[in-house]
Amino acid sequence: MLRYHTIQKTKVHTGRGSIRNLPALLDDAGFKNPFLVYDQGIAQTPIIPKIQMILDYAGFSYYWYDRITPDPTSDLVDHGAALFRARGCDCIIAIGGGSTLDASKGINVMCHNDGQILDYVGHEDRMQPARGLICIPTTAGTGSEISNWIVITDLDKGEKHPINVINSMCDYALLDPELTIGLPAQITAATGLDVFSHAFEAYTSTRANPVTDIICEKMMETVIKYLPRAVSDGTDIEARERMQISAAYGGWTLIDGVVHIGHCIGHEIGAVFHIPHGAAVSYAFPAMVKHIAGARLQKIRYTGQLLGVDFREDDSPETIAAKTAEAYIRFRDEIVRLNPISHYKPDLSRVNLDMARTICKDPLTALTPVPVTQEDLMYMLYLIFVG
Ligand SMILES: NC(=O)c1ccc[n+]([C@@H]2O[C@H](COP(=O)([O-])OP(=O)(O)OC[C@H]3O[C@@H](n4cnc5c(N)ncnc54)[C@H](O)[C@@H]3O)[C@@H](O)[C@H]2O)c1
Ligand SMILES: [Fe+2]
Repeated sequence: MLRYHTIQKTKVHTGRGSIRNLPALLDDAGFKNPFLVYDQGIAQTPIIPKIQMILDYAGFSYYWYDRITPDPTSDLVDHGAALFRARGCDCIIAIGGGSTLDASKGINVMCHNDGQILDYVGHEDRMQPARGLICIPTTAGTGSEISNWIVITDLDKGEKHPINVINSMCDYALLDPELTIGLPAQITAATGLDVFSHAFEAYTSTRANPVTDIICEKMMETVIKYLPRAVSDGTDIEARERMQISAAYGGWTLIDGVVHIGHCIGHEIGAVFHIPHGAAVSYAFPAMVKHIAGARLQKIRYTGQLLGVDFREDDSPETIAAKTAEAYIRFRDEIVRLNPISHYKPDLSRVNLDMARTICKDPLTALTPVPVTQEDLMYMLYLIFVG
């Protein structure tokens, strides 16, 4: 089968204040009875009352499901789909960060498929396509609004599963940077660093190609320039807008370039120690850079230069990787000021061979440009947790 590089099914509407165009978007799409999905964090912000007023004023009736939690679990997805059916709605409006967007994409899948969402882990080919989803991101991070992935947690096993929903991506994404103005600094930092990880991992994975490379280079440059501004002044609308668009394009690169070991480690340490996704992948970043130096030196050098490193002509591959990793740590810890991993008080007795085995089983590990053994992972985990 031919490989296609520019796959994008989601229609994207952007602009400051564009949330006011939601009724027009619903009319364009022919949807009449929306099912609003969000979490309790968003419920505390003015975003939900604003959207409800916009829908009320335009004469739409709607239902809502406000039980989404960070790192959404499969039961939330299955329950949401049952409620959607019971209410007779015709579309989902997902309002929130990646957790809400992923859960909503999963709910949408389960509105058009039998069984339970976890039945489709590793059996994505059995999914019937689903339509009827509008995503309104309120963080600038995961890019879930235009990506083909969802990440669902299996509570029984305590594992996070990436599921490919390429035939059930969202139909519309509405990007209004004003909705990200109230995002607290630490969440801005973590989600923005997730964008950087998407860019770097898609840029260096075994699936990287000239099409995704161009987008990834621009995304990394954008994060370095605008994330510090968005963190230090949440009302900087230009910085918010750039980060929001960059995050969405990150979702696009995930379709083709995908991600690799940084995200595999991030999924596992995030699930075990309840570390927010963007923070978890950023703690894994320096160890990942060192691991792949043998295969992606030019790209690591380019990333280091973006981060301000002045390399010497005779720098060895190890030095290039080490300097890039150090520059990234400076950016993460001193400029963006992400909380250190110790903030989550990880129980180090759980950082063991079992953890390394689980990470190795993540199918995305295979996209790492240098093969990863359990021994390699033990070393990377040592770098992350001990330094
Ligand atoms: N689908 C993908 O391609 C993809 C890619 C990367 C990560 N993910 C998944 O996305 C999830 C993480 O998403 P996230 O990082 O966006 O965080 P999140 O959705 O978990 O949100 C974090 C917190 O921020 C709050 N919040 C969101 N927007 C806000 C706003 N504007 N103002 C105030 N508070 C706000 C939320 O209520 C929540 O409490 C994880 O489950 C991760 O695995 C998915
Ligand atoms: Fe991510």
